[in-house]
Amino acid sequence: MISPASHEFELTDREFDRLRVLVREHTGISLSDGKRELVYGRLARRLRRLKLTSFAEYCALVEGRPAEETQELINAITTNLTHFFRENYHFEQLATEVLPQLERERSSTRRMRLWSAGCSTGEEAYSMAIVMREALAHLLGWDIKLLATDIDSKVVATAAAGIYGADRLSSVGAERVRRWFPPVAGRPDSSAASDELKSLITFRQLNLFGPWPMKGPFDVIFCRNVVIYFDRDTQRTLFDRMADLQEPGGWLFIGHSENLFNVTQRYRLVGRTVYRRVE
Ligand SMILES: C[S@@+](CC[C@H](N)C(=O)[O-])C[C@H]1O[C@@H](n2cnc3c(N)ncnc32)[C@H](O)[C@@H]1O
Repeated sequence: MISPASHEFELTDREFDRLRVLVREHTGISLSDGKRELVYGRLARRLRRLKLTSFAEYCALVEGRPAEETQELINAITTNLTHFFRENYHFEQLATEVLPQLERERSSTRRMRLWSAGCSTGEEAYSMAIVMREALAHLLGWDIKLLATDIDSKVVATAAAGIYGADRLSSVGAERVRRWFPPVAGRPDSSAASDELKSLITFRQLNLFGPWPMKGPFDVIFCRNVVIYFDRDTQRTLFDRMADLQEPGGWLFIGHSENLFNVTQRYRLVGRTVYRRVE
């Protein structure tokens, strides 16, 4: 129990369990015992803002399922850490192997679909878009699109705005920043993703455990550093749904600390946390 002696609000075992159930139900995220301080820290602000005096009151509020507070709870609980060209070997493989292969395989339909699932503030999607623009620059008249989604409404808004400070752009490299991120007038330390990048990407808020409006098939899915927060059964449900939206050979990239061992047989490992859908 987190007691009022050291904290403003009491977070009892019972209320922590109620919050765990709510978070699991709405996001798929399993909160371990070790996450109690984190949950307290992130939600105490909401209690203060709502002028509530206890977590019991907060639980009762969210259990009533008001859409707005449910979204606030989701936004507070998700961990959105990301950066440009994170796990860069995936972007290198995308540029040198995946996209050239897709160019050959899709020469009759001239269509490619990619998805950044759990895109956070957009760095992953813009990194993919840079690689796509560079590797496919010679393709004219093709129908190429990148969908980027996240459950957290705030990060999706940031991603869609596409404005980043110099600190965030440090992993992009000076030449690419010059080419793809023009400065923002009146904001000396910020740059905005170019229209060429933005026009490739559709940003949408989407819960991976809600209905999916898109039909696919997706040639490439990046779902990296998202499922670490889900238990194995929840991961299985998710990757089975993703497999249904891919054709045999479809590419799936997951995070460096994730794997599909004992999760699903519908993908086979072909590289460093890179999988392809089986027949
Ligand atoms: C740590 S970030 C990873 C960002 C990026 N993919 C990367 O690897 O840098 C995980 C993201 O997954 C999102 N997420 C968690 N549960 C989700 C769910 N059920 N549906 C959609 N997105 C979810 C979070 O909001 C968060 O932005």
